[in-house]
Amino acid sequence: MTDQAVEDWNGEVGERWLKYLVPFESMISPINAALMKAAAFKPDEHVVEIGSGGGKNVIEIAKAVAPSGDVTGVDIAQILIDHSKKRAAEAGVGNVDFKCADAQTTKLDAPRDRAFSSFGIMFFEDPDKAFANIRSWVKPGGDFTFSCWGPPDKNPWIGMVGAIAGKYVEMPERAPDGPGPFRMADPDATKALLERAGWKEVTCTLWQGEQLLGGEGATPESAADFVMNALAIGEPLDEAGPGLRDKARVEIIEALKPYYKDGSVRLDAAAWIVTAKA
Ligand SMILES: C[S@@+](CC[C@H](N)C(=O)[O-])C[C@H]1O[C@@H](n2cnc3c(N)ncnc32)[C@H](O)[C@@H]1O
Repeated sequence: MTDQAVEDWNGEVGERWLKYLVPFESMISPINAALMKAAAFKPDEHVVEIGSGGGKNVIEIAKAVAPSGDVTGVDIAQILIDHSKKRAAEAGVGNVDFKCADAQTTKLDAPRDRAFSSFGIMFFEDPDKAFANIRSWVKPGGDFTFSCWGPPDKNPWIGMVGAIAGKYVEMPERAPDGPGPFRMADPDATKALLERAGWKEVTCTLWQGEQLLGGEGATPESAADFVMNALAIGEPLDEAGPGLRDKARVEIIEALKPYYKDGSVRLDAAAWIVTAKA
């Protein structure tokens, strides 16, 4: 992994995720519910979660696999691991442990029954290496269940605000197959990647629904602030200075107003629920 990628999540990006953990978790909660349903964890399973973030899923899975099952959360960001440990202790959940490590290379003490990830597998510098490494963590025949974003044109929650920001500042170009939210948007490429890494019986099912931008209860104003402070598109706007930033903010608020319904900003979103067998 390059220094840049490590710095990103084990630095500024991880800090932003923790600072806005409540809206981030609220936004992805409908997708997470579909993902947990697809995973259908059973008591006594031994599970590893990749990119476990603030620890919400680790705790939920730990409850589902109790009494003798357990969950290991692997994440590259030390502050997210520290937060997760605290959260699990506060929740009184004991059948968990956490490992601050790069999922591309780290080894586990023993293979697990299952691997799981909620949006934690799109940031690898070398996906072939990473998915083969994760494959080595799972017993033969064990399941891998994960979510990743669907195509950008089915995710206006990010494209629409990005396009507005792009009118004011030059937005950094992302290589579509480089690390980032949409790098696994093509299900054929995902299937090929997983098969190269030794996974079998790969299925990709598209979840489509509403994304509550800025989390439940956000207004167009607070959703615009979330987008500009918590997502990467805020950085170029910050650099452009307060004048341009304020103009972009006003335009984003106006664009979000038609989507403010039943007390939240509701935009369409799409994510893949992917399953595979080791
Ligand atoms: C979009 S967040 C998702 C967090 C969490 N799974 C959730 O759904 O709330 C992506 C997570 O992947 C982690 N991550 C990124 N690259 C990683 C790597 N190479 N190894 C392990 N974790 C990584 C980040 O630190 C972050 O916690």
